Amino acid sequence: MQIYLAPLQGLTDWIFRESFNEHIGQFDKTFAPFIRTQNSEFYRPSQCNDILPLHNIHQRPVPQFLGNDKSSFLRFEDLCHEHQYSEVNINLGCPFSRVMDKSMGAGLLSQPEKLANLLDEIFSVTKLNISIKCRLGKNNVSEFEDIIPILNQYPLVEVIIHPRVGTQMYKGDVDYEAFAKYAPLINHPICYNGDISNIFEIQKIKALSPIIQRFMIGRGILKQPFLLSEIRNEVLTSSQKMNMLRNFHLSIIEKCKQKYSGDLHLLNRFVEMWEYHNEAYEDGRKIYKNIKKCNSFAKYEGIVFKAINEFSEH
Ligand SMILES: Cc1cc2nc3c(=O)[nH]c(=O)nc-3n(C[C@H](O)[C@H](O)[C@H](O)COP(=O)(O)O)c2cc1C
Repeated sequence: MQIYLAPLQGLTDWIFRESFNEHIGQFDKTFAPFIRTQNSEFYRPSQCNDILPLHNIHQRPVPQFLGNDKSSFLRFEDLCHEHQYSEVNINLGCPFSRVMDKSMGAGLLSQPEKLANLLDEIFSVTKLNISIKCRLGKNNVSEFEDIIPILNQYPLVEVIIHPRVGTQMYKGDVDYEAFAKYAPLINHPICYNGDISNIFEIQKIKALSPIIQRFMIGRGILKQPFLLSEIRNEVLTSSQKMNMLRNFHLSIIEKCKQKYSGDLHLLNRFVEMWEYHNEAYEDGRKIYKNIKKCNSFAKYEGIVFKAINEFSEH
């Protein structure tokens, strides 16, 4: 069984990926958050820094393309070659209306002809190995019936499916039945993604769809950082876990100090992470409340290392 780290823009950047892989556990693959590319330009050039080799030492992520035209893909491909990446992922899942309305991300799932053209154009020139990360549709899971034959035409490395539709964003139920129905119809290895935050979820998906051997975890790993060890049957003592958490947070703090100037930027980033990460701690809600109120970096450090010193299973 393979376990992948999901791309989470603003959360699983190189700082998180490096710190996690070095101090808590090694994923079989990590995926970098999207690099939006349109009109042959990088929409936010700073997004490209995330895949710089000097930032990615303990893991080598799969860079992700968000866009909808050949020339933008070629711009992205050049960047990947420049940094010696050979495998990339195409984002067909981003649910934000400002992305979907521009026929990108999950927006392409309701326009099969446009998607087929894009993949035709990309595969006629690319030298990269390509996987796809998608939802089951933009508005409705039945849209996926027109997407399957398109995906089956190209030599994809794998297809990662998050079985929600775009308009659901990240809420509402994951459609396990639709996933189990459509996954076997795809001629590529399939990876399941969505709402995994304990080992029972994985067992449930395996029971529903026994062919699935690849799982991608996003928010769940922030909530339960030791889930990876648990899946691999690695037994850790409480003091080992406390040490791992301490080193993980020290590494994040040290790297963030290099990247961000000023306490406010730093603190905003930490608040986002702790929205999920608080669930790892018995007193998580209180810790999160204190972090949200915190107005200096020194106070943040005090709260975090106190929480780790008191860490216990719950
Ligand atoms: C804050 C946030 C940022 C995300 N950024 C990306 C992204 O850059 N690329 C992508 O393919 N998916 C992105 N996703 C979707 C996740 O990769 C994943 O598909 C989704 O969160 C469901 O998996 P999970 O329940 O394990 O988190 C993002 C999700 C969230 C919540």
